Amino acid sequence: MSPSPPLSGRTAIVTGASSGIGRAIALELGRAGAHVFLSGRSREPMDATAKQIEQAGGRAGVVVADLRDEGQVQDLVAEAVRETGRLDVMVNNAGLSHPAGIVDGSPGEWREMLELNVLSLLVGCQAAVRAMRACGAEGHIVNVSSIAAQRRDSGVYGATKHAVNCISATLRTELEEDSIRVVNVMPGAIATNFARNFDPEFVKGFAKMSGVGEDVEVTRGEKLPDDVIEALQPKMKQLLGNAEDVAKAVLYAVTQPIEVNVAEIVVRPPKQLNL
Ligand SMILES: NC(=O)c1ccc[n+]([C@@H]2O[C@H](COP(=O)([O-])OP(=O)(O)OC[C@H]3O[C@@H](n4cnc5c(N)ncnc54)[C@H](OP(=O)(O)O)[C@@H]3O)[C@@H](O)[C@H]2O)c1
Repeated sequence: MSPSPPLSGRTAIVTGASSGIGRAIALELGRAGAHVFLSGRSREPMDATAKQIEQAGGRAGVVVADLRDEGQVQDLVAEAVRETGRLDVMVNNAGLSHPAGIVDGSPGEWREMLELNVLSLLVGCQAAVRAMRACGAEGHIVNVSSIAAQRRDSGVYGATKHAVNCISATLRTELEEDSIRVVNVMPGAIATNFARNFDPEFVKGFAKMSGVGEDVEVTRGEKLPDDVIEALQPKMKQLLGNAEDVAKAVLYAVTQPIEVNVAEIVVRPPKQLNL
């Protein structure tokens, strides 16, 4: 008889699961046997990932939400608990960057980054701790930060990720006596839709350098087709990591015994771009 997968019987939530790193983490946790709840704003890609998980014999649910709204974060956690009676892994991954500087940036863009990257993550941490305590879970809270938190001059986006590092470290201390570990993940540049708010010429330059195509349509704020990202990453692997490698690191951290805290993880390609 083959052993049951490591997360069998566990419930996991992944925010920002409609694209990039979050989608890869949802798939990895689903393959490892967790009942995964995927959340983000775009239903279609999450339905497709949930189907992939289910076709491989796993269980998945989709919760469409704008996670800048604290009530929608709390409802997401409540929904997972209502359906499965528990919560074991909370991955606070949803995040975005508007790269403009302080002199040229706009308060609306700063607010969007602060609300999603910091406030929604804080609410997700709090709701997850309450749900994990209520079901007596040996739980893991995974916060997706960035290597931008390792540089002092990484802009407003970087400031939100410095805040994530501080929140993870503080929560880790608050939970020392609980059976809940906190994992802070700092990815380097990873091939995803992260650059969707960057200058389209910068993104086109990458596509051109990789030889993927000069005719790739890039519109600020819009996602690139999956096949473009999938084709681009292997050609640019010195500069752009693969989301699956971040997901594998997360799976490693959340499958350790509860007295082992994989506290911080950096996953990056060989050459480092400043994010
Ligand atoms: N890729 C990198 O180079 C890199 C490096 C370091 C850190 N990170 C961090 O990794 C995390 C994931 O980013 P990614 O690279 O995978 O980028 P991505 O492909 O753009 O994915 C971002 C995810 O966040 C979701 N999201 C955005 N706004 C939301 C909102 N208001 N409510 C709910 N969901 C929302 C998106 O969903 P919709 O598209 O459905 O809105 C999407 O699923 C972020 O925290 C980012 O800061 C990325």
